[in-house]
Amino acid sequence: MRYTTEIQQKMLERKNLIPLIEKYNTPMWVYNADIIKTQIKKLKKFDIIRFAQKSCSNIHILKIMQRNNIKIDAVSLGEIERALAAGFQPKDHNIVFTSDILENDVLQKVIELNIPVNAGSVDMLKKIGKISPQYPVWIRINPKFGDGHHLKTNTGGENSKHGIWDPLEALAIIKQYNLNLIGLHIHIGSGVNEKNLYQASLAMQKYAIQINKKIQFISAGGGLKIPYTSLDQETNISNYFETWNKTKKIISSRLKCPIRLEIEPGRFLVAQSGILIAEIYSIKKIGKNTFILINAGFNDLMRPVLYGSYHKITVLHKNPINEQKSSVIQGIIAGPLCESGDVFTVTKTGIICHRKIPQVHIGDYIIIHNTGAYGASMSSNYNSRPLIPEILYKNNKFKLIRRRQTIQEMLNLETSL
Ligand code: LLP
Repeated sequence: MRYTTEIQQKMLERKNLIPLIEKYNTPMWVYNADIIKTQIKKLKKFDIIRFAQKSCSNIHILKIMQRNNIKIDAVSLGEIERALAAGFQPKDHNIVFTSDILENDVLQKVIELNIPVNAGSVDMLKKIGKISPQYPVWIRINPKFGDGHHLKTNTGGENSKHGIWDPLEALAIIKQYNLNLIGLHIHIGSGVNEKNLYQASLAMQKYAIQINKKIQFISAGGGLKIPYTSLDQETNISNYFETWNKTKKIISSRLKCPIRLEIEPGRFLVAQSGILIAEIYSIKKIGKNTFILINAGFNDLMRPVLYGSYHKITVLHKNPINEQKSSVIQGIIAGPLCESGDVFTVTKTGIICHRKIPQVHIGDYIIIHNTGAYGASMSSNYNSRPLIPEILYKNNKFKLIRRRQTIQEMLNLETSL
């Protein structure tokens, strides 16, 4: 059994979950702080770990990162404010703003706090250069190839909107406005194969030497894999580090300056820490199919419907006697939304499929695993369903870290004008 699964087993014990459900009701997200800390430790060799908070942006999760010396990546004004609320000081490159556009309110905020900007377009460099010469900037290079667990998460090559295609054009703008180039960044996608992660390091070498300007940082981006299925492997961190460390040394010696190596993971740090707990409300036959309908939908967890993503699913019986029974069924696990696509068990291409699960009854609970990354942070109010609570499991205790949104809070945006 994998180590993270072992840590999770303890949190998943019936004696923990049943009282938790009774207290906060379903559906809910639960995160295990110990898994996050275990994942952080695996990356300790990198000079800087920068958490891509888009994967899980709850302030209390960010606080865990902050206490463990992790820096933060923000991609919107909201994410900058979250980082500040979690206690990140806008100094020592603690917060970097990464984007492909620079909206006016963000520009104002980054300049006010002197937050370095990782520019994914030449227009960003021009915009900041005009207002604030000497500003610390990074260039996010599109290395002309990318990868990802899905086309939608591939961030390199000419079908991706991300990054700067011609770093020399960016360099010309940097010179024109006397901007302070501090780092180079390459992120080729999310859920990337190791071979391509290594290719990215070679691309970094090539571009750093081509740009030929002293810098302080290189970033290997994020994209590390985690095991969603029993066949998946986590990215081999020691190989990955060795490759990028070599790249760092080559660049450092060619440019004759010390360089710090950053990594910018989201999924790797939080995915395995999180679960979504929902309750079964209906078990119905539609022709040859058995649909098991739960009270969480793709407004809560979008990944299956958006990318055909696989998430492990287990059952927690309301009545412990049913746990002893060994019968299994083939069911399609679906949500409450008024949309046929609201299904959690799908193939890679998005076709609904059956999952073997223990015999279930109405009132039993479904646990959807490995949902700590891109779960809550991608939720919406579709079908006017409120955002659901988030709970942190730490030191053998559960703590509410986001309460359930009320319907009135949703309506207020339209009624309190
Ligand atoms: N850095 C940058 C610039 C990024 O765009 C991303 C992810 C990351 C780091 C972190 O990537 P990670 O280590 O988490 O793979 N919603 C999708 C993933 C989208 C990722 C977008 N950018 C999913 O659920 O799989």
